[in-house]
Amino acid sequence: MAERNRAMIVVFLLCVIAEKRAAEGYTLDVCASCHANATCDDKSDGSGKVCNCKYGFVGNGRTFCQDKDECQIGASKICGQHTTCHNTYGSYYCTCLAGYSPSNNMAIFIPNDGTHCQDIDECRITGLCGEGGQCRNLEGSFDCSCQLGYQVHNGTEPFHPHRDKASCKVVDCGHPALVEDTVVLSVTGTTYSSVAMFVCDKGFVWRRGDNRSVCGADGLWRGPTMVCEAKCGPVPLLAKSEVVWHNRSVVIHRCVDGYHSWRGSNVSVCNSSGVWQRATLRCIEISCGPPLTLPDTNLLWDRTSRPGSVVLYECMDGFYQESGNNISTCLLSGQWGKVSVKCKAKCGPVPLLAKSEVVWHNRSVVIHRCVDGYHSWRGSNVSVCNSSGVWQRATLRCIAKCGPVPLLAKSEVVWHNRSVVIHRCVDGYHSWRGSNVSVCGSSGVWQRATLRCVEIKPAVNHLFVLNEKCLHWRAEKYEEDTEVYKVTYIGSRDYQKSFHDRRKQFLSSKADQLELCLNLLPVTNYSISITAVSSRFTATITTNTSLPVPTAPVVHYREFTTPIPTLRLRRSPNTLDPISLYQVFVLPVEGIMMFDCSSPASSDPSVKIKSSTEYITAQIDVTHVGTEMNFTVGDGLYYGGFFNAPLENGRNYYITLRAVSQWKSALKSSCVLWAKVRGTSYVLMVSSLSAAATIGLVAFIILVGYSFTWFFKSK
Ligand SMILES: *[C@@H]1O[C@H](CO)[C@@H](O)[C@H](O)[C@H]1NC(C)=O
Ligand SMILES: *[C@@H]1O[C@H](CO)[C@@H](O)[C@H](O)[C@H]1NC(C)=O
Ligand SMILES: *[C@@H]1O[C@H](CO)[C@@H](O)[C@H](O)[C@H]1NC(C)=O
Ligand SMILES: *[C@@H]1O[C@H](CO)[C@@H](O)[C@H](O)[C@H]1NC(C)=O
Ligand SMILES: *[C@@H]1O[C@H](CO)[C@@H](O)[C@H](O)[C@H]1NC(C)=O
Ligand SMILES: *[C@@H]1O[C@H](CO)[C@@H](O)[C@H](O)[C@H]1NC(C)=O
Repeated sequence: MAERNRAMIVVFLLCVIAEKRAAEGYTLDVCASCHANATCDDKSDGSGKVCNCKYGFVGNGRTFCQDKDECQIGASKICGQHTTCHNTYGSYYCTCLAGYSPSNNMAIFIPNDGTHCQDIDECRITGLCGEGGQCRNLEGSFDCSCQLGYQVHNGTEPFHPHRDKASCKVVDCGHPALVEDTVVLSVTGTTYSSVAMFVCDKGFVWRRGDNRSVCGADGLWRGPTMVCEAKCGPVPLLAKSEVVWHNRSVVIHRCVDGYHSWRGSNVSVCNSSGVWQRATLRCIEISCGPPLTLPDTNLLWDRTSRPGSVVLYECMDGFYQESGNNISTCLLSGQWGKVSVKCKAKCGPVPLLAKSEVVWHNRSVVIHRCVDGYHSWRGSNVSVCNSSGVWQRATLRCIAKCGPVPLLAKSEVVWHNRSVVIHRCVDGYHSWRGSNVSVCGSSGVWQRATLRCVEIKPAVNHLFVLNEKCLHWRAEKYEEDTEVYKVTYIGSRDYQKSFHDRRKQFLSSKADQLELCLNLLPVTNYSISITAVSSRFTATITTNTSLPVPTAPVVHYREFTTPIPTLRLRRSPNTLDPISLYQVFVLPVEGIMMFDCSSPASSDPSVKIKSSTEYITAQIDVTHVGTEMNFTVGDGLYYGGFFNAPLENGRNYYITLRAVSQWKSALKSSCVLWAKVRGTSYVLMVSSLSAAATIGLVAFIILVGYSFTWFFKSK
């Protein structure tokens, strides 16, 4: 390879030498042959002339000198950065690109003196971006943005003021927006960073948040964040009312429809302590009450009395509406609207028929009926108001029904008319039971009175007292009715003025024969009345009771050795005490003894009893004896006129006590052996004889020495 290159260089050199030899060989006017755009120069070695293409031309200098385009190698290479290369005939020049300026401050340049294009700082010129604009220098250019407080207009940032329509305009937030429940207190402006101060509206309180609003760069207000709360809370509500208008501190109420305010204020106010001062309004339901009634009309009414309720007045059957307005409406004033309906009877007053009465009627129909005592014979009993306003009369005829008044046995007629007869029993008879009125029945027959007249008889008959104890009588009744008898009895005694036995007893019985046993006291005059309560009849009877055997007192039989023994007795008081006495008998013991208890009581001490050895040693009125008595035999005193003689020594005695009751001629007695005064053994025989019944002599043999208590009675 190296050999081949070397060979080529040798060839080139040989060629140059050959041409030189040729030129030397031909002596030409070289300069004349130079190209118009060549210069003829001396050869540097001084050996002739040579044509050289002028500067900016390339070629052989004689036949060919062509403009050389220097720019074609690239502006940045020949002129430098940010340039434009301009070729000229035979030369070139450079210019800077827009946004750059040549460092030699000439419009065009050849960079061979070091001139270059440098960036122009457009921002040095103020106001390039307009008012509020912010210039930014760029390589060969600049752009604009807006300063704080300004906003781009008609474009976006960044912008070029010449190329774009955009421009900067001052920020304007406008008026601060209204914020609920607040009011604006002050505003410093509407431009960027202007401040608006807010306060809570009246009736509200500031709870939290910021009270400031600031105009932002974006043209919007920021804030306030404050939260205002109503001081008094939600609006107060009143019964049956609604809120017409309200803000946070004042509420205006109104009664709802159908209610009217009765009294009080209709305004609620939020007071300074945050409490609603409620309206005092009271809403009362509007009611018209019951509607007016008008004669001869019926009401069509739904029974409501609210405003708007309607009542329709209709003429009753048999009437027609002559004039007027028949509708009434309940007004808001609480009153029924005026109604003026006038109804006129179609047929006039109801027609009347002889001997008949009106049972029922309205204005178009009348129902008749025969009066009592008459019955309808024939015809219709209905009158009808016909369409032409005339009564079509009932054809009913009434005729007398039952004929002459009925008569009842033993009775007379007190009063009568055609349908009713009142009867009464004649004298000496009385109505026993049943009605005393005869009525003429609907079938035309007298419904006779059921009265029965019976002869008046005493209701209590054949009254008598049996065994001083039981009342007997016959009942005079008219039926098996129960009669109630009231029996009253009063007992009295001549010998005892203070004595009164008043008693009463009731008996109710259906029986005809009656018996009522009474517990009558002895020796008493009784007056007994029996009243038959329902018959109001009273029968009276008097009766007396007999004298019974007196009760002997209780004694304790004892034997004594002393000549003056003291004996004792015990007794129960008795109503017969005023006519009773005790007699103490001394019975000397002599062989077989007999003692008659029933012997008449001698109250005369001078009369000696028979020829017996026995004697009365004392007589004591029972009324002077209490429930107990001590008696000493032989004390030498007088008792009831009897001398209580001392007992003889050495003899034996029985002491007997006799109880005696006596009224008028009646006398009853009982005896009791009281004591034995010491002696030898004897047989005692005591006999008793009943004064009333005379049963006979009863003898008792008593073995002496056998100690006992004894007494005997007679009937
Ligand atoms: C020589 O150059 C000039 C301009 O520099 C040109 O106008 C002219 O035509 C050229 N002459 C020839 C013979 O090329
Ligand atoms: C705004 O709020 C500040 C505190 O946050 C307070 O000091 C100032 O008084 C308030 N301004 C008004 C007008 O309420
Ligand atoms: C008869 O008298 C009775 C009672 O007073 C009465 O109800 C009735 O209507 C009268 N009858 C007649 C026909 O007068
Ligand atoms: C009873 O009445 C009669 C006559 O009046 C009279 O004599 C008698 O004493 C009375 N009897 C009594 C116990 O009162
Ligand atoms: C009752 O009184 C009558 C008449 O007064 C008389 O005869 C009769 O003895 C008296 N009876 C009695 C028990 O007293
Ligand atoms: C009877 O005598 C007894 C004993 O001496 C005595 O206790 C009693 O009180 C006497 N009774 C009367 C009523 O005197």
